[in-house]
Amino acid sequence: MAITIKDIARKANVSITTVSRVINQKSEGIGDSTRKKVLDIIEELDYRPNSIARSMITKQTNTIGLIIPDIRNPFFPELVRGVEDFANQHAYNVFLCNTDGEPKRELEYISLMKEKNVDGIIFTYSCAETIHQLEEIVLDQKIPLVLLDRGVDDQKFSGVSIDNEKAGYLATKHLLDLSHTKIGCITGPAQFPNSKDRLNGYRKALKEAGIPFDQDLILAADFQMDGGYQAAKTLLAKKDITAIFAFNDVMAFGVYQAAAEQGMNIPEDVSVVGFDNINYNQLLNPKLTTIEQSVYDMGEISAKILLEQITQGGDVKNKTLYLEPSLILRESTKKLEN
Ligand code: RIB
Repeated sequence: MAITIKDIARKANVSITTVSRVINQKSEGIGDSTRKKVLDIIEELDYRPNSIARSMITKQTNTIGLIIPDIRNPFFPELVRGVEDFANQHAYNVFLCNTDGEPKRELEYISLMKEKNVDGIIFTYSCAETIHQLEEIVLDQKIPLVLLDRGVDDQKFSGVSIDNEKAGYLATKHLLDLSHTKIGCITGPAQFPNSKDRLNGYRKALKEAGIPFDQDLILAADFQMDGGYQAAKTLLAKKDITAIFAFNDVMAFGVYQAAAEQGMNIPEDVSVVGFDNINYNQLLNPKLTTIEQSVYDMGEISAKILLEQITQGGDVKNKTLYLEPSLILRESTKKLEN
């Protein structure tokens, strides 16, 4: 038979309220000797508070929901690790859900989190229409929420991402500085704000260099390896392209595959820049030049913001933080000889 809070109260000869206040560390007004007696009996009887009963008292579950779109992409486990480490260090557990970028599953998981009474949600969404429905579910229910990695233009929610426009600029300027002027671009899904911002950075670097933007060099893909491969095959068929900027490393792997199939060497025949700096880059030959996203830090900071919202109540002003990107120079780019 599980030990209950009543058993503790009876043995300590105090009220259930006193035991509850000691458990929830709200023991102002309770003498030290009484508090110590209750804690000793809790240890003696090995009492473990029932988490559901506890949440009914405190209206908190000390659990946060984390919803991501693609657990197979090495970018996301690193993001999850940052969230989980910070949450666990502050006595919160994490419910992790993977949506495969499907709108239906995104909304199902948001509803499930509500049912489970999570104290807050961290969300990397994939479908713009989800955001519109999110406002109704989350804002009306006053559930703290932080958008991670893929923000929205207005300030209805807090968010954390890198400065994607600056990142796109850094990658493109690097290739321009190597005398490349015909730079193919393999973007993420066109509706994603972070992909749009990266493309804006690409355009800004071209404009600064006095090179006209050529829509024929831009192909939208899906942040997946095969998407990168198919887009690269099309771009590499245009014989004047000397460099490709892929909006994530997984698609850059697809560029490597397409280049190899066409007997093209990297970087001798085509320079390649990726984005994310995931661990597997070290296995590529040549090692991939890419953009560092500080992925773990992004996850950690999103958890910090969410826990601030949870503990300080809904009056915390929404804030969006943009982390600084950096260019990681390796072996997959070289100067274009005349
Ligand atoms: O690799 C997955 C991509 O989608 C990353 O660039 C990240 O920013 C996410 O939005």
